[in-house]
Amino acid sequence: RPLLDPPPPLPVLFASVGFSIFAFLAALYLIPALGPRFIQANLKGKDLLKVYTDPIPESQGLVCASIYILLLILFIPFPFSDTVGSLSESRKTLQSVASLHHELSIYLSSLLSLLMATILGFLDDVFDIRWRHKLPIPVIAAIPMLMVYYAEGGNTHVVVPIPLRPLLGVLVNLGPLYYLYMSLLSTFTTNSINILAGINGSEVSQAVIIAISVILNDLLYLPWPMDFKIPLHLLGSQAEVEVGGPWHAGMSYGSSELVDRHLFSLYFMLPLLGVCLGFMYHNWYPARAFPGDTLCYVTGMAFSVVGIQGHFSKTLLLFFLPQIFNFILSCPQLFGLVPCPRHRVPRFDPDTNLLHPSKAKLNDKPPSKLTNFVLRLLSTLGLTDLTVDPENGRILEATNLTILNFLLVRFGPMTEKRLVQVLMATQVAGSVVAFAVRYGLAGLVYDG
Ligand code: UD1
Ligand code: MG
Repeated sequence: RPLLDPPPPLPVLFASVGFSIFAFLAALYLIPALGPRFIQANLKGKDLLKVYTDPIPESQGLVCASIYILLLILFIPFPFSDTVGSLSESRKTLQSVASLHHELSIYLSSLLSLLMATILGFLDDVFDIRWRHKLPIPVIAAIPMLMVYYAEGGNTHVVVPIPLRPLLGVLVNLGPLYYLYMSLLSTFTTNSINILAGINGSEVSQAVIIAISVILNDLLYLPWPMDFKIPLHLLGSQAEVEVGGPWHAGMSYGSSELVDRHLFSLYFMLPLLGVCLGFMYHNWYPARAFPGDTLCYVTGMAFSVVGIQGHFSKTLLLFFLPQIFNFILSCPQLFGLVPCPRHRVPRFDPDTNLLHPSKAKLNDKPPSKLTNFVLRLLSTLGLTDLTVDPENGRILEATNLTILNFLLVRFGPMTEKRLVQVLMATQVAGSVVAFAVRYGLAGLVYDG
């Protein structure tokens, strides 16, 4: 099958790698250079898990986002003009203008969404927006991107897994529900990174590992030399499943379109990885810079942009397994069943330098039946530790419902550095599972 033709515009990919190295160096240099200015502007935080109280520059995600977005703008001429001889012959002749316009609008709307995420994340850093107000923020930021998806007659069909096909048919049109799903996706990717936070390196290391996972996944779809083709045959049929039916009537999926989508994703992910690695150097234990909500929002939005525009949102969600776990575990606190303190970060013991699970105190009045049930269930599952009144068996305290506290409950107290390493290992394990599910198990429920 001629799945992997025509060849990708290699010069553009090389340019993207070059931009990413530059992004890395820029973050490496600018974060410490600009830190003092942030402290002067009162954008500073105290490291909650240290004995010292020196102010640490907060919202450094703004520096990262600025580098990232400026580089993405400077990059525009590379894929969208013939400057580096990158437009393949078929592109110049067959679809030419319309296709370029279309891809350019995808690119520009993605930039707009990233800019919105930056502004809103920064506002959150400055004003500490309340939870119920900040949840819908990324929905608004995703609108430009969703409108471009709509304007191109965006596909809202999903491929039905084989066992359900007698009931539903091969394709189901979700219509507006699909847009709801996509806007919730951006809410999820942005906020889920933000609530898995609070120890040095946690936010940025999630972004780094997810970006690497997306990049590896993209690389699978590029036309490699012949010798690599054996595993790619497996991917070919799967890849078409994810593409999922007609984009709009009458338009068929050329293999080059699949390649183009994953190139688009690479152009956004490579510089993100660069800038995050540069920042990570300064955010690593003991942190000299904090990401702030800005970094969480921008990285999260970048992931949903490539997931939606690259048409691999389900695969993307698989890379968020630890975040999904953390979100579900957090729900009782996020939705008010269990009290949620301002900070749920683990508790630091200055004498031993170890982190212990932090606890949420239940109010003086006895917990409701539902709260009681949920907490006992979570405790039976080993997800939280409860402190119970020995006299009447009433729950007095529960460890905060986050993956970080869960890891401490499971594996016992550890240092902050060790905990972030365990968190990263969990994220990597999640990605390994994701690849196994995506390219192994998916074949069982979709035609492979
Ligand atoms: C989210 C979490 C909150 C967690 C906080 C930590 C939920 C619902 N909210 O809130 O529980 O405590 O992130 O970021 O889960 N900090 C450190 N060390 C770090 C990073 C941050 O001590 O490595 C502290 C600093 O004081 C920093 C502050 O956390 O100033 C930033 O918190 P912020 O991002 O504003 O918290 P939220 O995102 O609202
Ligand atoms: Mg935050």
